[in-house]
Amino acid sequence: MIIQDKRLMVIGGAGFIGSHIVDQVLAEQPREIIIYDNFTRGTRANIEQAAQDPRVRVVDASITDTLTLRREMEGVDGVFHLAALWLGECVDNPRAALDVNIVGTFNVIEAARDLNVQRIVYSSSASVYGDAISVPMTEEHPFNNRTMYGATKIAGEQMFRAMYEQTKLPYVGYRYMNVYGPRMDYKGTYVSVIMRVLDRIADGQPPIIFGDGSQSYDFIYVHDVARANILGLQAEVSDECFNIGTGVRTTINELVDMLLELTGSALKPEYRPQEKMFVQHRIGSTEKAERLLGFKATTPLIDGLREVIRWRISQGLKVRLLE
Ligand SMILES: NC(=O)c1ccc[n+]([C@@H]2O[C@H](COP(=O)([O-])OP(=O)(O)OC[C@H]3O[C@@H](n4cnc5c(N)ncnc54)[C@H](O)[C@@H]3O)[C@@H](O)[C@H]2O)c1
Repeated sequence: MIIQDKRLMVIGGAGFIGSHIVDQVLAEQPREIIIYDNFTRGTRANIEQAAQDPRVRVVDASITDTLTLRREMEGVDGVFHLAALWLGECVDNPRAALDVNIVGTFNVIEAARDLNVQRIVYSSSASVYGDAISVPMTEEHPFNNRTMYGATKIAGEQMFRAMYEQTKLPYVGYRYMNVYGPRMDYKGTYVSVIMRVLDRIADGQPPIIFGDGSQSYDFIYVHDVARANILGLQAEVSDECFNIGTGVRTTINELVDMLLELTGSALKPEYRPQEKMFVQHRIGSTEKAERLLGFKATTPLIDGLREVIRWRISQGLKVRLLE
């Protein structure tokens, strides 16, 4: 789909990833961008600059409100669907996970089908894979998920596929690895390891590592993820799911070392027994996304982490950056 002069909707557009998509898509000359978000986690601050653009309209509503969703989607050409409850929220409230992530996603699909939307980019998650059986995980890796959150994402992918079979509603599903960058949550209940470690460093406390720190993940910078979303809307390929990651394996020990180095801290991490069941390894193969979408992440982790620290400083949070 050509984005220029089109009407686009970013559902969950006031959130961490969605707000970066809004920023980047503005440069592609769309006619209108509708940010559809109920602000449960998204913030006005994330979209403060974008909202000043006359092409941007903000709708404060939920995807569970089918009437508003359909009214606002009328005449929309392309949709980025990111609205979802997070891993921890799904643990605490499985019924809300069902209502928002599954029924809400169905509402998006149904409205898009009825209103002849040309294309949707759906935010799934690498959580569908659960703990890696083989590394790097290709898109053929089994659904080894054991969480309600992952279950809702599998359901989302399957509903998109089923509706594609019936109506040929073009879509791609994105299985993000661990996304980080400016605007990532730092004050809610579900804060990422990067922010928790920076909080400890800022307080002069040793960063806490649960387990032995050998757990390994694929950290991808949010600007790369936003670019992947734009490529997903522009692409020809449909009815496919893609890993969106860097393919680079980073252990928690390495991540903490980088953060200590960037902040010039001499603190030593403190190891504690792992309390919760976390996925131990998650690194995605990037081959399919590169081949079919032309997407390759370009931001090295150290550079992205530097940007996170700069952003924290701009938010008035304690922590210094060794320039
Ligand atoms: N950040 C990651 O590392 C990561 C990894 C894998 C998958 N994802 C997926 O990517 C998507 C975006 O993630 P994010 O990190 O930007 O999360 P986020 O919570 O910052 O963004 C989600 C947005 O959806 C909004 N929202 C929630 N419920 C809604 C509802 N009922 N109606 C309308 N809006 C609603 C929230 O207010 C928020 O602005 C999510 O679907 C998430 O599951 C993220």
